[in-house]
Amino acid sequence: KIIPDYQSFFFPLSKLDLSSRPQLFDFHGVGMIPIFTANWENVQNFQARPDDIVIATYPKAGTTWVSQILDLLYFGKTSPERLTSLPIYERVPFLEMTIPNLVSGKDQADKLPTTPRLIKTHFPVQFVPKSFWEQNCRMIYVARNAKDNMVSYYHFDLMNNAQPVAGDWNSYFQRFMEGDMVFGPWYDHVNGWWKKKQTHSNIHYMFYEDMIEDTGREIEKLCSFIGLSPSAEEKEMIKTGVQFDNMKKNKMTNYSTLPVMDFQVSPFMRKGKVGDWKNYFTVAQNEEFDEDYKRKMKDPTLHFRCEL
Ligand code: A3P
Repeated sequence: KIIPDYQSFFFPLSKLDLSSRPQLFDFHGVGMIPIFTANWENVQNFQARPDDIVIATYPKAGTTWVSQILDLLYFGKTSPERLTSLPIYERVPFLEMTIPNLVSGKDQADKLPTTPRLIKTHFPVQFVPKSFWEQNCRMIYVARNAKDNMVSYYHFDLMNNAQPVAGDWNSYFQRFMEGDMVFGPWYDHVNGWWKKKQTHSNIHYMFYEDMIEDTGREIEKLCSFIGLSPSAEEKEMIKTGVQFDNMKKNKMTNYSTLPVMDFQVSPFMRKGKVGDWKNYFTVAQNEEFDEDYKRKMKDPTLHFRCEL
């Protein structure tokens, strides 16, 4: 185990009443909670290596899915035991996640024995430690349409006792549009990374909806970005392994090992669909959302699909 304390830390946090949930605060203009800022200096001074791979997302955009795909692509053949014995959050450290004296994503990343190191972050682009840019590391950004992203985040905030209180759906809906979320507004996040990609060729920008539409095609694109050419058989195995139902069953990817998440409220692997927002948005909310969206999302080159 790379971080034996991970589970023991989270255990006492589970099933706590809502009053113990963290409060969102403004951190350099971005909504944050202490577990993502406590190690700020060290995280900012992280020493990247040129072959590090960064997996960057707004929360609930498909981080775990792409992480598992990359881990399988790189290590599925050479060290399959790693994939069956270590949960995804130990194989792919969450850089900024820190509980002083217990869990540090930064230390975990430092100690990763693999080459390359797969490193997860939810940072908006301006928070990415400078060493990753200096080393010209490859970065994979996954974006998901705002409506499904919101619904997924809502359920996550309901079930994850380490997140701020979700409140009811109507208030969450407003808060999402206002951008008062952990890791800030969805709008700034997806736009910030999209802009960065225009000047930084080592960013591969992916869409959750494309992955749902044709996982094989997206794995193919990912392979050409990272310069891997797995056999047809390997690709088929990966495609099957990362199907929603298989990842939902897999204890090493479904987060069932983290008691801080209350699966009685909602499982981590919830639905894995495009268009689930239609079950939550009222007609009036959808109109309000679309109006607001038009004002915030001015770049015609960044296009999301809310249904397939
Ligand atoms: P839902 O809540 O809509 O089901 P993240 O890993 O960034 O936290 O994102 C989690 C979201 O991705 C959840 O969305 C989860 O179900 C979905 N997801 C995870 N693995 C998936 C897969 N293999 N196929 C489709 N969706 C997946």
